[in-house]
Amino acid sequence: MNLFDVYPLNDIEITKATGLHVWDANDQQYLDLYGGHAVISIGHTHPHYVKRLTDQLNKVGFYSNSVKIPLQVQLAEKLGQVSGKIDFQLFLCNSGAEANENALKLASFYNGRKKVIAFKGAFHGRTSLAVAVTDNPKIVAPVNENENIIFLPHNNEVALEETFKAQGDEIAAVIIEGIQGVGGIKEASKSFLQKIRSLCDEYNAVYIADSVQCGYGRTGLFYSHDYAGVEADVYTMAKGMGNGFPVAGIAIAPKFKAWHGELGTTFGGNHLACAAALAVLEIMDQDNLMKNAEKVGNYLVEELKKFEQVKEVRGRGLMIGIELPEELAHVKKELLFTHHIFTGEAKPNVIRLLPALNITKAQADEFLSAFEKTLNK
Ligand SMILES: Cc1ncc(COP(=O)(O)O)c(C=O)c1O
Repeated sequence: MNLFDVYPLNDIEITKATGLHVWDANDQQYLDLYGGHAVISIGHTHPHYVKRLTDQLNKVGFYSNSVKIPLQVQLAEKLGQVSGKIDFQLFLCNSGAEANENALKLASFYNGRKKVIAFKGAFHGRTSLAVAVTDNPKIVAPVNENENIIFLPHNNEVALEETFKAQGDEIAAVIIEGIQGVGGIKEASKSFLQKIRSLCDEYNAVYIADSVQCGYGRTGLFYSHDYAGVEADVYTMAKGMGNGFPVAGIAIAPKFKAWHGELGTTFGGNHLACAAALAVLEIMDQDNLMKNAEKVGNYLVEELKKFEQVKEVRGRGLMIGIELPEELAHVKKELLFTHHIFTGEAKPNVIRLLPALNITKAQADEFLSAFEKTLNK
């Protein structure tokens, strides 16, 4: 059997990883500022993470949501504490798309409505409703097309207000990333998020904060949406949550009352997934990683802004987009193959930095020095 060939691959096989470093099959070391797409949050093979997963695997790896799983309760408590959403409720699932799918479903159950407002440039995943609220027609199959989705321009308060005025009674939810990731590191303005909050309150719609990429402490606050000083009704999370173990969740405001069967999944919240997620939160808490993300992230942004050749530097904390002109389109490949540094990308010509939250200043400097060499070649 062959693999279904959907991924454009770099010709690199990673055989070993620790902290912010990975090694290929030829033992070449790389600095990883991409973390497999914002997934590695506490560093590769962190000793506490490995121990917690190994210990758990030696006890029980999996059982379904037909029995009590105290680790889920521990996880909910720890997540409430680290994120500051103590009175929220947690539903566990397996991926970012699934988290958004469940958040949208929950919203629709809550107010009995069908329409969803999403924004230009948004990416929310590839499953049926998650892809329908994603602004990329190329990946929306005919069966996923959904007439209930209203796409509005990003950060446009007037368009949002007018849409609510015209159809407010039909709108189930507004879904928005705190910082658009796939869309090229575009931050939702504070006033826009505040406007979403007030319109959702006025019309009884649900504010869904997609924190799959921009959340989990990456920007210095646990949820980047919270820079706006208003709370969402539902936060979706995945990527950094398990440091590579597939685990995702939605944090749900107290006003939502669950009923048996409303949401469900076979694998979600299994023992190993909870152990992975707990290990991540314990390290984040113990090592003050959100503070570090803010500090090293701000440093990187300030330094990157000094490069004349860079068109724009966007983002917050360790979610950084470096927009380059056309003639510097080669920089990302050169960073990887000459300087052995993994970075992410976004179209048309944006380098995305999404490193683990325990990146050091020295590692940031290593990148800056390689970046300078690449620009000035
Ligand atoms: C903002 C956002 N939401 C949702 C998703 C989908 O997550 P997953 O690939 O885990 O389904 C992604 C993935 O890149 C994302 O960036």
